[in-house]
Amino acid sequence: MKRAARRSTLPAPKTPPDLRELARLARAARRRAHAPFSRFKVGAALRTRSGEIVTGCNIENASYGLTLCAERVAVFKAVSEGLRSFDAVAVVADAKRLTPPCGPCRQILWEFCGDILVHMEDLRGRRLTLRLSELLPFPFDSRHL
Ligand code: THU
Repeated sequence: MKRAARRSTLPAPKTPPDLRELARLARAARRRAHAPFSRFKVGAALRTRSGEIVTGCNIENASYGLTLCAERVAVFKAVSEGLRSFDAVAVVADAKRLTPPCGPCRQILWEFCGDILVHMEDLRGRRLTLRLSELLPFPFDSRHL
């Protein structure tokens, strides 16, 4: 009872996320991708509950394993700027299939953003929106430590 009451006092998102607009910003970020090795460019745009948007693109490295995905760049940029409360992320790539966040990015998104909307779009406008909990149904997080 107490817990439910506390939850209902959480501030509601100020504006609902406009996912097409978020994808437009992710598409613009994608153009800044540094992907000379895979040539697979990805853009991401992460929205705070109050409507601020932080973008990211993938950044590859000659030591391939040091590559950062677009989603993680967006999350780490946002967290480093002091932003903490998120409601949606858009991911844009150009491939036969829509590009979902990779496994490590799902983990990072879960830990910093919780069960946000994950909106995937390609350059042709094909799109799909899922909750992160659908992509990562049984997550490991700090509650397990
Ligand atoms: N990549 C992302 O940036 N995000 C994803 O969701 C999938 C993969 C990047 C990593 C690498 O630079 C390239 O795409 C190919 O894997």
